[in-house]
Amino acid sequence: MPPVLDTTETDRVDLTAQFGSTDFFDGAATRTIGYNQGYLGPVIRMAPGGLGAQVRNALDVPVTVHWHGLLVPGEHDGGPQAAIRSGASWSANMQIDQPPATAFYHTHAHGRTASDVYAGLAGVIHLTDGRDDDRGLPSAYGVDDLTLVLQDRRFDTGGRMTYDLSMMDVMHGFVGEVMVVNGQIDAVAAVPKGVTRLRLVNGSNARIYTLFMSDDRPMHLVATDGGFLDVPIALETLILSPGERAEVLVDFGDGRSVALMSGGDPNQGPMGMMGRMRGVINRVIDRSFTVLDFAIDDTLPVRIDAVPDTLDGAMPDLDGTDVRTRRVSLDMGMGPGGGMGPGMMGPGGMMGPGGMMGRGMMDGEGFRGPMMSGMGVFGINGRPYDMDRIDYEVGLGTTERWIVESPMLAHPFHIHGAMFQVVREDGRAPRPEHRGWKDTVLVTGETELLVRFDRPASADFPFMFHCHILEHEDRGMMGQMTVS
Ligand code: C2O
Ligand code: CU
Ligand code: CU
Repeated sequence: MPPVLDTTETDRVDLTAQFGSTDFFDGAATRTIGYNQGYLGPVIRMAPGGLGAQVRNALDVPVTVHWHGLLVPGEHDGGPQAAIRSGASWSANMQIDQPPATAFYHTHAHGRTASDVYAGLAGVIHLTDGRDDDRGLPSAYGVDDLTLVLQDRRFDTGGRMTYDLSMMDVMHGFVGEVMVVNGQIDAVAAVPKGVTRLRLVNGSNARIYTLFMSDDRPMHLVATDGGFLDVPIALETLILSPGERAEVLVDFGDGRSVALMSGGDPNQGPMGMMGRMRGVINRVIDRSFTVLDFAIDDTLPVRIDAVPDTLDGAMPDLDGTDVRTRRVSLDMGMGPGGGMGPGMMGPGGMMGPGGMMGRGMMDGEGFRGPMMSGMGVFGINGRPYDMDRIDYEVGLGTTERWIVESPMLAHPFHIHGAMFQVVREDGRAPRPEHRGWKDTVLVTGETELLVRFDRPASADFPFMFHCHILEHEDRGMMGQMTVS
């Protein structure tokens, strides 16, 4: 488990973005970065109330700390506008006022979020009200309450972690062949012979996990991004895309050693885009692999031996009558008549001379001109992110209906400074793991959200909304809004 930085007594969090050296494999050191350590950062334990944050940048590149999942005003949110230059510091006096949840923090310096999160600038937040024992939930850190940052990485033959982007990595998002959990390869989690809580955080740049237990025993979902559900939901599989968190309870009471597994990434491989277009999102396309092995440790105390029947989380139930509707299209620069047909492969398409490999992308609305040759062209509603443009002006205290479309790949869509309810996805009721409060959701076609905007953001420090495939975000699949 990562070390804990407990702020519940001090009401202060001090972070330093710093260089490190990490031996993922014996003897081969990779130059990495982290918060307060060489790779990743501590688990920050916090409670509702005032919290003073101080962040120092000891790196040679700009960084931020974005509190993904904390509902704080735009000026404290750590978005691209809050970049801290090398050697400088940033501070924020925050008020935390939201239900308990597992959140995520990471750098958000525009254009380098992908490379710097990959190198280690990310960590986990436990927002707690200290009442988990009353809820019958496991809460002994590292004993029956495990925090698991799931990442996939590539390594060279010398065992050093690498990040070299090919065209395909940019288009589909970068995935690695080696599973790294909390910065460790081939980790084994020791668990008591009872109910254990897994706080699963997808900290990967792009990989979408379809998680299941090796013997198909249920994972009881107790919390989504925004906090607890009303009752646990038993799941056989759980899809977790980048930026999403899920808390599940797994009963190891039978004493058998099992593993957490994942199916292949629906966006990857030769089936990537084409598979997506044929609608095979729920099928395992490449081979399944082990995410983490569990070993029963009889010496660990069994504190919880049954999954609670009820929880006290409030399920989202937003009123969607008379609300403003916005359409949000996550675009990969397809020309008119795009798709895998001639529109994509032909002269004006993605692979053609006028496409992503060549000059620009589109002749119709949207991307124009000789932009970003050789690298992907990404945007929202046809326009790449522009730090100087406010895309939406949202009313503080309002609810809006956002209809988010991913015509090509599956994209994890994230909104800062707000929580939302998934109303429908691809014409159906939401997947069970999307029924609680969310701030990030995998969009596989068309997903309808009701979003509640309760935190302000000015034009100087607007809130972002973006694809959480970090290679897409950095290349422009992001927009920004004020809330006032
Ligand atoms: Cu996890 Cu805009 O971030
Ligand atoms: Cu965020
Ligand atoms: Cu994307």
